[in-house]
Amino acid sequence: MAVSRFLYFIASMDEEQGLGKQNKIPWRSPSDLKRFQALTLGHTLLMGRKTWESLPRALPGRKSIICTRDEKFQAQGAEILKDPSQILERAKVETIYVIGGQKMYEYFSPFAAKLFLSFIPGRYACDAFFPPILKENYPLEYTETLADHKFSIFVHKEIFTP
Ligand SMILES: NC(=O)c1ccc[n+]([C@@H]2O[C@H](COP(=O)([O-])OP(=O)(O)OC[C@H]3O[C@@H](n4cnc5c(N)ncnc54)[C@H](OP(=O)(O)O)[C@@H]3O)[C@@H](O)[C@H]2O)c1
Repeated sequence: MAVSRFLYFIASMDEEQGLGKQNKIPWRSPSDLKRFQALTLGHTLLMGRKTWESLPRALPGRKSIICTRDEKFQAQGAEILKDPSQILERAKVETIYVIGGQKMYEYFSPFAAKLFLSFIPGRYACDAFFPPILKENYPLEYTETLADHKFSIFVHKEIFTP
């Protein structure tokens, strides 16, 4: 199955691949937030309805797309998408960051071209998890160890150029 060239995942997770608890991210890492801002600024963010509801407002300087099956759902400053598969063609020409949560990473996991992942030390009793993604499909491109987390970029083998 072909990946969509510019469909990227960005996520932070704990040692159990936990993403969040009660619709919140239970850790705080200013350096991770700073990188999230730097990577995503000027691009399109795609998220599930629950992740949208965990944010105070649309993130400035970026387009937001929210996936929901709710026909009546509305959100200020965001595009609503009922059929996530429509993103696959669009992400062949436009950079789209899937920013969560679990349901969105699961849905798009066969198609992600790059994974921008932050690994947060500790276990936070999460109730949402990053899906198991076949490591052999995603060679490591870059890694960096910071004071409070490790950050790595994995690129799908279809497009990885060592
Ligand atoms: N650590 C991180 O990097 C990170 C990033 C983002 C989020 N999170 C955490 O992840 C958790 C939320 O994840 P989640 O899996 O519960 O929710 P989610 O993926 O954010 O949103 C789920 C919702 O998306 C919609 N949806 C899912 N599949 C769909 C499909 N095939 N077609 C149309 N709409 C679809 C549905 O909305 P409707 O119910 O409205 O139909 C569904 O309830 C929270 O704890 C959040 O804090 C963590």
